[in-house]
Amino acid sequence: MKILITGGAGFIGSHTAVALNEAGMIPVLIDNFSNSEKSALEGIKKITGKVFDFYEGDCNDIEFLRKVFSDHHIDGIIHFAASKAVGESVENPLKYYENNVGSIFTMIHVMREFNVKKLVFSSSCTVYGEPDYIPVDENAARKPANSPYGNTKAIAEDILSDLVKSGEDLQIISLRYFNPIGAHESGEIGELPSGVPSNLVPFITQTAIGKRSKLTIFGNDYNTQDGSNIRDFIHVVDLANAHIAALKYTQKKNGPFYDVFNIGTGRGNSVLELIKTFEKVNQLKLNYEIGPRRPGDTVKIYGDVSKANKLLNWKTEKSLEDALKDAWNWELKLAGSK
Ligand code: WQD
Repeated sequence: MKILITGGAGFIGSHTAVALNEAGMIPVLIDNFSNSEKSALEGIKKITGKVFDFYEGDCNDIEFLRKVFSDHHIDGIIHFAASKAVGESVENPLKYYENNVGSIFTMIHVMREFNVKKLVFSSSCTVYGEPDYIPVDENAARKPANSPYGNTKAIAEDILSDLVKSGEDLQIISLRYFNPIGAHESGEIGELPSGVPSNLVPFITQTAIGKRSKLTIFGNDYNTQDGSNIRDFIHVVDLANAHIAALKYTQKKNGPFYDVFNIGTGRGNSVLELIKTFEKVNQLKLNYEIGPRRPGDTVKIYGDVSKANKLLNWKTEKSLEDALKDAWNWELKLAGSK
């Protein structure tokens, strides 16, 4: 199977390229480097010992996509490419609707033209908002999005589901990711946030290495066991493997379908627990303080992942400790390479 990975130089995309290779599938990567760096391609090469076909370009550019699909017989697509900064999406919603929703349209048109049926789409647990129950399963109501970023995921899910409902001959899976963290254990690929990280773990590792002076914990007065938010932190390599499982699932199924799966660990950890674990496994002390709540934060969420366990025959293999060791190893390697 030859699989197109959009956003192939990104955090999850690069790990998925490695996972595809391990599964005996052939990745073809595209990226516009809007929020990623060419070094990720070097990292993929170091891990796999292979150079995969790569195209620099934008998923909203239909001529660019046509060129890629003309050069390769693509059997399926994993569509990661998207803008993902929640705060920026509030300030510049058009960028988010154009990039994240617009690319769905171009992708579907090209899939029709080149008769490609399989698509795995990167959705997010953000579609659940503050869930009515946890662990939240796929039957839970989707809530109005907290940000334009979140809304683009809900809209894209609806577009894809409506297409299949209308009778289009497509096999589409939306994977609702919880909080991906960590890095490849080799330290060759990992998360490369541009500017000040907004996500927790890159902020922690950058603080530990001295790039940031202090981590602020956004609130310790929530109704949780220690007052900090609860999340389902999943190792990025486990998350990458879920895409392979999703593609294999489409191979087993006959005919068109649309389905959604939660991809998380099924466990919740608080922000404070995560910090303590980071300190323990890496034997260091983190400089942090308690600050005010961050507007729009979900209080507690973690996923019921039994549907993916059962139907996709997928489960996580790595622990929170593994993820935090690997994230730190990645930060150390980055520091060493500069
Ligand atoms: C996690 C927890 C913060 C930074 C977002 C998106 C979601 C998904 C992943 C992708 C929260 C706390 C954070 C800091 C802190 N999509 N925190 N201090 O908000 O759960 O999810 O990223 O790209 O769709 O909404 O992730 O890593 O920002 O925060 O205390 O400096 O860490 O309040 O409780 P979040 P996060």
